[in-house]
Amino acid sequence: EEGLHPPKYPWSHSGFFDTFDHASIRRGYQVYKEVCAACHSLDRIAWRNLVGVSHTATEVKALAEEHEYPDGPNDQGEMFQRPGKLSDYLPAPYPNEEAARASNGGALPPDLSLIIKARHGGCDYVFSLLTGYVDPPAGVEIREGLNYNPYFPGGAIAMARVLFDGLVEYDDGTPGTTSQYAKDVVTFLNWAAEPEHDERKKIGLQATILMSSLVLLSLYAKRFKWTPLK
Ligand code: HEM
Repeated sequence: EEGLHPPKYPWSHSGFFDTFDHASIRRGYQVYKEVCAACHSLDRIAWRNLVGVSHTATEVKALAEEHEYPDGPNDQGEMFQRPGKLSDYLPAPYPNEEAARASNGGALPPDLSLIIKARHGGCDYVFSLLTGYVDPPAGVEIREGLNYNPYFPGGAIAMARVLFDGLVEYDDGTPGTTSQYAKDVVTFLNWAAEPEHDERKKIGLQATILMSSLVLLSLYAKRFKWTPLK
């Protein structure tokens, strides 16, 4: 059963010439870190990927060092823990699927790396899902442990509403509202799913300019060369 169709939102990165809003990616990382990362992994993103996108190298090093990673063996053959480095991947909240399901009433919080591409509706869907929790309509029974969300296919989702006004205090002073958090985290997740997005559009634009100049040049050359034969 399909979910409610999400409205189309005017994402600032959706146009042909538009790149990501990097201040929004930065705030979105903060939302991911403080809220989503408690349950969702982001397997495909390494700390180094954030450098120059949302944070400086110094900032990312500090973020990585907040986490411990398994390492070893050392000279004595022992395994040990060491602080994270730029080359490490973002840590997952659970050691394995069983642990993830055990903590979420049997449901599995999916890895969010590609979620924007994997779900029909992309950004519009995830934004609508995060902001769309409402009471179930009269006559609709929601099983214990599930939550009503009209955008989720089937309407009953294991994830409860997680975003509320004032939950995250942005370090750039942007007012913290549910919809601002949802917009920013969706922009961050879209970047995670398409880290090449800005470069792709830039190169596409350059290629278009180059190819059209070549076409115009060859049309001009052709007319010029053929003039005496007319
Ligand atoms: C599912 C996003 C926070 C637990 C999902 C899905 C998305 C998502 C996109 C997939 C929905 C679908 O299948 O179409 C987010 C974001 C979060 C967040 C962006 C932070 C803002 C959390 C937290 C928890 C959680 C904190 C745990 C307390 C789950 C679970 C599912 C899920 C268990 C599976 C739901 C089901 O299949 O019924 N989440 N989530 N999520 N999330 Fe989250």
